[in-house]
Amino acid sequence: MSKLPAHLPQTVDGASAHIYTVTTPSADDLKLMVFLEAAGQGFYGAFAEAAPNDEIRAIFNKNGQEEVGHAHRVSRALKLLFNEDFDVPEPADNPYYAWPKDVVLSKDMISGIAQQELAGDALYDLWATNLGHEEASRLLRRNGKEEKGHGERMQRAAGML
Ligand SMILES: [Fe+2]
Ligand SMILES: [Fe+2]
Repeated sequence: MSKLPAHLPQTVDGASAHIYTVTTPSADDLKLMVFLEAAGQGFYGAFAEAAPNDEIRAIFNKNGQEEVGHAHRVSRALKLLFNEDFDVPEPADNPYYAWPKDVVLSKDMISGIAQQELAGDALYDLWATNLGHEEASRLLRRNGKEEKGHGERMQRAAGML
């Protein structure tokens, strides 16, 4: 069963639209982010399945793995900031999780995701600055750095398509 609080957006589009408006995350925002990050693995898994070669597939798989790590770091930040225990959900318990079956990879689509990843870096950096909590902000900045890496890898992948 989903532990995503019922008053938070229940779709991945709703969650994505909300999260980019947040400048200083509340406990709810961090819970939403745990779910959103954990869902990243499904999307990247589907992209990997549709990848035209091993090099591009490896890029998607690496990004997907790291998204799960991001979910764990956000959960740790939530504990540090709000003293709440909140597990990273399994795919079956995550309403944001999807494994799209009809993925058609294009340069434009991958470039678009690269831009979202880079925006993720900016968002984490903003949160880290505004929260000003030594350890939690360090965790969020580490996520941000990896999002930047995701963006750069995706730009590389787009160049290979
Ligand atoms: Fe992430
Ligand atoms: Fe990412």
